[in-house]
Amino acid sequence: MILETLHLKNFRNYETLDLELNPQLNLFVGPNAQGKTNALEAIYFLATTRSHRTHHDRELMRWESSEMRVSAIVKKNHTTLPLDVTMTAKGRVASVNHLKETRLADYIGQLNVILFAPEDLELIKGSPAGRRRFLDMEIGQVDSLYLYDVLRYNRVLKERNSYVRLERAQIDPIFLDVLDAQLLEYGTKVINGREKFVAKLQQYAAEIHAQLTHSLEELKITYQPKTTADRFQEQLTERRNLDLMRHQTSIGPHRDELTFHVNGINVADFGSQGQQRTVALSVKLAEIELMHAETGEYPILLLDDVMSELDNTRQLDLLDAALDKTQTFITTTTLDHLQNLPDKLQIFNVINGHIKNA
Ligand SMILES: Nc1ncnc2c1ncn2[C@@H]1O[C@H](COP(=O)(O)OP(=O)(O)OP(=O)(O)O)[C@@H](O)[C@H]1O
Ligand SMILES: [Mg+2]
Repeated sequence: MILETLHLKNFRNYETLDLELNPQLNLFVGPNAQGKTNALEAIYFLATTRSHRTHHDRELMRWESSEMRVSAIVKKNHTTLPLDVTMTAKGRVASVNHLKETRLADYIGQLNVILFAPEDLELIKGSPAGRRRFLDMEIGQVDSLYLYDVLRYNRVLKERNSYVRLERAQIDPIFLDVLDAQLLEYGTKVINGREKFVAKLQQYAAEIHAQLTHSLEELKITYQPKTTADRFQEQLTERRNLDLMRHQTSIGPHRDELTFHVNGINVADFGSQGQQRTVALSVKLAEIELMHAETGEYPILLLDDVMSELDNTRQLDLLDAALDKTQTFITTTTLDHLQNLPDKLQIFNVINGHIKNA
């Protein structure tokens, strides 16, 4: 899929922005703090209705404004589709083809993006919660049913957690049975969705990682569920007393883990910076292929500030892997270190919330 245009209103430091985009490669160039990342964040927001940098929606709205909008014309399956997300203090409204989607989960998936940003090292080094969020966001982009199941799971989990905080005497075991049945229903779907996704991701990523490292490194991505679909029910029952004592839900996919091993060694603990970066890159490139396999379309690739961190060969590998297939957006403070750029590209200068064709 391809973004033909991008329109912003009161998004971060953009008062208004109207861009015509290059179908292959778009470079956003400018000094620090001018709005390069903000522009990519807007595209990510249009795809997912979320930011990759903050959970506080208010931060996305231009200071002192009360309504913001991101819209674009997307070309896919030989048709063009207007997408639009507006946000006010009351919340977000998404429309496809000028028709409002009543549920955001139905909207997500219209536009598929893969973002590669400096924060992505956190996927390897950061908290398990970050890895679970990664799984949910990525699976959700290609499977809206999964997104429903995660949302429902989280809702029931929250309810169960507050229920087990009550005094013992106030607990009605039959009500707890009802909560457990729901937790089980949605949790099992979440576990199955994650298991399927990681198995595919592992296949693509291992192959790409072998290419990137000239077969010196073997990457293994492993889903480590806290419990399995088969054992979830039994373990919930076994641990009920423990949960009531500790006032929390000790079993379920909200405790899942995802690990990355290179040549048998856990990269989070023992990998070098460069190794961790290459693993993160392999995962992102694998997602491009995975999304294509799932949806029949290549996603849009957003590369924030990553070219300067990669050596020449890896820059080339990245561009090679991307350019023929995906529309790519790259931010950079300088063009100096970018080698071997293709002829068909658009360079944009980004200055203080304004973007001009170079
Ligand atoms: N809600 C907002 N309203 C207005 N301006 C904002 C808002 N949020 C952030 N900004 C401004 O946006 C600018 C940062 O933009 P951005 O993160 O896109 O920079 P950048 O061009 O990517 O810089 P760098 O090269 O350092 O990564 C800052 O000047 C910040 O003050
Ligand atoms: Mg930036």
